[in-house]
Amino acid sequence: MSHANSPHPRASFARGALTGTIRVPGDKSISHRAMMFGAMARGRTTVSGLLEGEDVLATGRAMQALGASVKKEGELWQIDGLGVGGFLEPQAPLDFGNAGTGVRLCMGLVGTYPFVTRFVGDASLSKRPMARVLDPLRAVGVEVVEHNENRLPIALRGPKTPLPIDYRVPMASAQVKSCVLLAGLVVPGETRVVEPVMTRDHTEKMLAGFGAEIDIATDDEGERTIIVKGLPDLVGQELQVPGDPSSAGFPLVAALIVPGSDVTIESVLMNPTRTGLIETLVEMGGDISIENRRNSGGEDLADLRVRHSALTGVSVPASRAPSMIDEYPVLAVAAAYAQGRTEMPGIEELRVKESDRLAAVARGLEANGVVCEEGADYLVVEGRGGVDGGGKVETHLDHRIAMSFLVMGLAADRAITIDDDTMIATSFPSFIGDFTRLGAGFSEAGEAA
Ligand code: S3P
Repeated sequence: MSHANSPHPRASFARGALTGTIRVPGDKSISHRAMMFGAMARGRTTVSGLLEGEDVLATGRAMQALGASVKKEGELWQIDGLGVGGFLEPQAPLDFGNAGTGVRLCMGLVGTYPFVTRFVGDASLSKRPMARVLDPLRAVGVEVVEHNENRLPIALRGPKTPLPIDYRVPMASAQVKSCVLLAGLVVPGETRVVEPVMTRDHTEKMLAGFGAEIDIATDDEGERTIIVKGLPDLVGQELQVPGDPSSAGFPLVAALIVPGSDVTIESVLMNPTRTGLIETLVEMGGDISIENRRNSGGEDLADLRVRHSALTGVSVPASRAPSMIDEYPVLAVAAAYAQGRTEMPGIEELRVKESDRLAAVARGLEANGVVCEEGADYLVVEGRGGVDGGGKVETHLDHRIAMSFLVMGLAADRAITIDDDTMIATSFPSFIGDFTRLGAGFSEAGEAA
């Protein structure tokens, strides 16, 4: 599926209980990193359970353009990497499509190399702020030879002598933290990154697994200091990618809001930096049992059994935002079906995701008869225990807006239409098929069923 395709509207409608078992695709954050770290390590990395979504495939193509071999053999992805410092000058711009994680991490990965790399993306990605990664890269000595007001297209040229930096990440962003750590790998000496609040730690954990020397200290206020030693010998690994907790959010909320539902979601990543949505849904009264807890490849996994529940509005602590930052759109859907007010403060970062998610969610709720209040950095949803539906939602090329409102339509009085479902392929290509198997109702033409 190409981003140049014309928009493909779709509607969802209430058809009855959702039942059965679903395995969500591999975690997007880990899948991007598996491609990049495999390409950077010496020797072969094999990956099972990789998310084969558009975003990750774009990262894979970028790694090929930098000289790594990336191919699928049977069920396994095989990446033959080049060793730290081994990337080759790409002959064409690296096109990251819709993928913020892909492009921001890759700017750190290759931006320090002493050749020009050009980064491009789709209309959504080209609107997103890149100063947050360009600023620390400039401090390393990287020259930004082209940019469009700190947005894509961007071209970078690394310096003859890159410098190790000491960088405090000014916002809660795992992408910025990761970009600086990756740049630090090709710089002699120690690069130090401070994050005021802990964000997803996949870069730190996975780099250590590939053989990097990483020291982490957390102070009493929760501020984390991460030190990476430059020029490590990274060696290919065997990786298993667990199910994406962000994707699991859709069947979780769908089963909670559709009467009679009972759904099991298998093999979901339970890394504590990613489980804020589950915590919040349980506080709202969601019947979610965490079963078969286990550890695989250094990450906690579990199966989640979720049953339809009467939900109550809650106030979500702002400090929880980093552990559920991509899940607010689908939480807003759960909040609309809850009784009472749900307050979501401290979510200004939602404005710079694949779309301005705060605005996109608020408009989508309003279009379907849900009362909400949108502030600069907060959203309040007034739940009435049900949703009228009947509205048309603008997705702004954002996969999570598309899936959230399709989920909302599964329990609404009238069908809900989204203007385009093609972007769903960026993170959850099997979404429509998987949900149809659970009993969800969708119609193609975008007309109410
Ligand atoms: C990601 C970090 C988050 C998240 C994104 C994936 C990552 O972005 O929204 O979907 O894999 O590092 P920010 O770093 O912008 O918060």
